[in-house]
Amino acid sequence: MALRPLLTRRTLASASGFSSNGGITTSFRGLQTFSLPDLPYDYGALQPAISGEIMQLHHQKHHQAYITNYNKALEQLHDAMSKGDAPAVVKLQSAIKFNGGGHVNHSIFWKNLAPIQGGGGEPPKGSLGWAIDNHFGSLDALVQKMNAEGAALQGSGWVWLGVDKELKKLVVETTSNQDPLVTKGPSLVPLIGIDVWEHAYYLQYKNVRPDYLKNIWKVINWKYASELYGKECP
Ligand SMILES: [Fe+2]
Repeated sequence: MALRPLLTRRTLASASGFSSNGGITTSFRGLQTFSLPDLPYDYGALQPAISGEIMQLHHQKHHQAYITNYNKALEQLHDAMSKGDAPAVVKLQSAIKFNGGGHVNHSIFWKNLAPIQGGGGEPPKGSLGWAIDNHFGSLDALVQKMNAEGAALQGSGWVWLGVDKELKKLVVETTSNQDPLVTKGPSLVPLIGIDVWEHAYYLQYKNVRPDYLKNIWKVINWKYASELYGKECP
């Protein structure tokens, strides 16, 4: 079977692995790959809710590892497709989903957080605030629901507040491993995603995931979530 080239041929954009365009860079092989996006705040800026040590490891080691492995899988996919090697293409799907999902989810997560002095923890205003009150009863009821579902999630995963952009309706969902929210429905858009992998809290909270979930709301960036909601539900 002939395969159409999916990838653009562009020249080397970044030799450092970092870029200023949201974490996308271009390799010399003409394959579009990804690089670690900068955090919009310092590693220690979310303390005491999340320690600087956790933030630095989470960003520099964990997120970077997903990106490295995603890029590797994409290169292997590129090779497999150019050879028409169907079994190899299929074999790569789980690595692409896991590592690509890890990159997508963490890129959202950093934007879901903000230092307290930068507005972190300030309740949502405007249409998102109204929608939360209408759908869940109150912001506190939503937080309790997400904390309960996040605490109950077995193993590693994420708890999400999303909006169904077709139904214009808020949803709370959990996903396992690094599955993005869209795996729960093609019209779901993530507004807030909370990482409940142990690497997100263990150094500070040990095994007490509920305490991490309780404190993370102090640095949630509701302004970002409100802007996204406004775009999907104008
Ligand atoms: Fe993580």
